[in-house]
Amino acid sequence: DQETAYYNDLCTQRFKENDAVLIAHYYTDPAIQRLAEATGGFVGDSLEMAKFGAAHQASTLVVAGVRFMGETSKMLSPDKRVLMPTLDATCSLDIGCPADEFKKFIDQYPDRTVVVYANTSAEVKALADWVITSSIAVDVIEHLDAKGEKILWAPDRHLGSYIQKKTGADMVLWQGHCIVHDEFKHIALEKTIKLYPEAAVLVHPESPDSVIQLADHVGSTSQLIKAAKELPNQQIIVATDKGIFHKMQQAAPDKELIIAPTAGEGATCQSCAQCPWMKMNELALLSEVFEKQDNEILVSPEIIKKALIPLERMVNFKR
Ligand code: 13P
Ligand code: SF4
Repeated sequence: DQETAYYNDLCTQRFKENDAVLIAHYYTDPAIQRLAEATGGFVGDSLEMAKFGAAHQASTLVVAGVRFMGETSKMLSPDKRVLMPTLDATCSLDIGCPADEFKKFIDQYPDRTVVVYANTSAEVKALADWVITSSIAVDVIEHLDAKGEKILWAPDRHLGSYIQKKTGADMVLWQGHCIVHDEFKHIALEKTIKLYPEAAVLVHPESPDSVIQLADHVGSTSQLIKAAKELPNQQIIVATDKGIFHKMQQAAPDKELIIAPTAGEGATCQSCAQCPWMKMNELALLSEVFEKQDNEILVSPEIIKKALIPLERMVNFKR
């Protein structure tokens, strides 16, 4: 529409003037994803976003996603300016794992390798030995387990128990959860599967174990999009934020995408298949990203120094 076209032109011009590149997550507004691609930016899963930002030559990275994604970009490129449409875009996993409490938890298990999800604050990452995302989670823990290491994992309990089951590693788990994925329920999903018996079921591993058990494929957002394209099924049931449908439909244009059922509906469920923080990334805010004074990601050099060790392990990890 006209408004979107207006903001697109404005953003394109402003990015150019400011030597900036836009890096967006799949859960953001499709208009933002399109803009990222049209302006030489990038749309991807959280690991791909981190790698793209670190490798890009632009002096400013504009991150449309949630705060931990902006912080990761900043820590991997401390000399770049990192801006976000709003710093209020956080993540329930990050909120549910405050650094001071996490430090006490770690102190109880001095002999364990501390592995944290990318969905954490910079301060929590600074306490870790490894940072991982869902796309490499199983592979990294397999690698550590093979070396005989015992693991302390935080914060997502569902992803943690999924990794534990897949690898058999010795893990203690922090009990956090994502408010979006935690809403997917297996009884309702079983009913949906009955309605679409030929459909493939794709599940993000932040979902409950009982939902993961019904999956044909479990993986990061990029891995789920790839599966939607490659699996032979014409119908695809998807348990993750429905923002992913934009790129998934592009990857699999002739397939029917069906969102997995959640516990609540409408007004009773604010976070059903839609991350409230990802939604805060509005095109209008993006057009003001260089003028606002309160949206730059800043991380202290001391935290960056510590967090870079586990973060570089994450970006350099090869399967
Ligand atoms: P991905 O790494 O799969 O993109 O996941 C990020 C996320 O926050 C999912 O809720
Ligand atoms: Fe965090 Fe869940 Fe939102 Fe992903 S969907 S950013 S894990 S709250």
